[in-house]
Amino acid sequence: MLWMIDNKKILLCVTGGIAVYKAAALTSKLVQAGAEVKVILSESAAKFVSPLTFQALSRHEVFTDTFDEKNAAVIAHIDLADWADLILVAPATANTIAKLAHGMADNMITTTLLAATAPIWIAPAMNVHMYDHPAVKKNISTLSEYGYQFIEPSEGYLACGYVGKGRLEEPDKIVDLAVNFFQKGSGELAGMKVIVTAGPTREKIDPVRFISNSSTGKMGYAIAEQARDAGAQVVLISGPVELKAPPGMEVVRVESAEEMYDAVLSRFEQSDVVIKTAAVADYRAKTVYSHKVKKQPGDSVIELERTKDILFELGQRKTKQILVGFAAETNNLDEYARKKLQTKNADMIVANNVQQEGAGFGTETNIVTFFKRDGKNESLPLMSKQKVASRIIEQIGKMVKDMVK
Ligand code: CTP
Repeated sequence: MLWMIDNKKILLCVTGGIAVYKAAALTSKLVQAGAEVKVILSESAAKFVSPLTFQALSRHEVFTDTFDEKNAAVIAHIDLADWADLILVAPATANTIAKLAHGMADNMITTTLLAATAPIWIAPAMNVHMYDHPAVKKNISTLSEYGYQFIEPSEGYLACGYVGKGRLEEPDKIVDLAVNFFQKGSGELAGMKVIVTAGPTREKIDPVRFISNSSTGKMGYAIAEQARDAGAQVVLISGPVELKAPPGMEVVRVESAEEMYDAVLSRFEQSDVVIKTAAVADYRAKTVYSHKVKKQPGDSVIELERTKDILFELGQRKTKQILVGFAAETNNLDEYARKKLQTKNADMIVANNVQQEGAGFGTETNIVTFFKRDGKNESLPLMSKQKVASRIIEQIGKMVKDMVK
């Protein structure tokens, strides 16, 4: 489909790891999707695959050396930085990630990236233990704060012989993300700031124990991805889950209801839509012990206190924002969902009966009913969580349209 990203300018920065061979496929696929691609290879990347391969695939000369100025009329690294609509660093080694996190500019790639104002996406690829190293994690988190987006590596067989997380994301997937990115402008939530909360919260009892629930975050993550694909600028505020951070959005990891409250409230004023998919704990332990509590003979009681109801607080504060809440029920779905719509001052409640087969926590599918402020409800049949997410975004798109009428 040649029209997909026609004429979009993508600067692909390739750093030295075995996954460089996949960057060649990525170059080809981006070109096939219609993009104009220019490539910078680091010195070590050029040891894995020759610049000639990238030159042939991109049909542009390839840059490797900051001082090899091919055109006297321009300074290459500034020119390339200004030229790009999107910059991909794939594969990104731990070394390049570290240099970028510290603002270094010691080769053509790091120098160009420091001068760039276009969005920068980083697709790391390395050994699983390297990826897990606190220094790498810290550098990734620093770069995320600077606004770099990460395309998390996937799990599988690594060239070093290990099986684990560290494989460069597949070129097809990266191309899909680029296509979505460039198609954003026309999406139904184009330019809107959307907060999505997902997953459970954990309320500590002592350093090794907590109160939580069975939410896996699948529904919330699917909604965040659909909102992103509809053109929204998404912040995903996630409780502890096993899911990969979806690319193309800011992901804020929290643990407790209180942390989620702070993360949501601090971003609420600037937001246009908040979708509260998270299964937030309603109670937490009144006393959190700093040491592991030892068992005693006989029964024990944990005294609980209420957490803040985030959605309720947002309902009190909302000005222009569209608020969507969730209701996971086991009985009297209609009655409870309508009550939540009112008490929380939400614009829509997405309710499901978690005891129904195919609905609720952990499943790939869901069966939901939308409860809206006009008193109408709409029940959807069993469908994948992605489809449900897409229908939710469609509903929100309609609400946005109605607001601007
Ligand atoms: N919610 C929240 N903050 C809380 C608890 C819930 O924002 N402390 C949000 C959830 O994200 C969800 C909705 O409120 O969107 C769920 O409504 P709620 O009435 O709290 O449901 P339950 O937690 O299931 O509580 P109840 O026992 O009243 O059914």
